[in-house]
Amino acid sequence: MIICHCQSISDHDIRAAVDWMRAADPQTLITPGKIYRALGKRADCGGCLPLFLNTMRRTPAFRIPAPPDPVRKTG
Ligand code: FES
Repeated sequence: MIICHCQSISDHDIRAAVDWMRAADPQTLITPGKIYRALGKRADCGGCLPLFLNTMRRTPAFRIPAPPDPVRKTG
């Protein structure tokens, strides 16, 4: 499904960019601007932003993984 009509960006493009960015850097903050840049495009009208953000947030790799629980010292 096309999410950004100005730049012909699909939901698949967004999910692939999120997956790629998370694999490249597990701690990176993923923003729409970074996704546009990763796809070699620039936002135009911004009308797609709500759907663009929704698509990003629904991608499993979007969230920064929680750090491991600290090891408790006993004694
Ligand atoms: S629809 Fe995405 S920038 Fe216009």
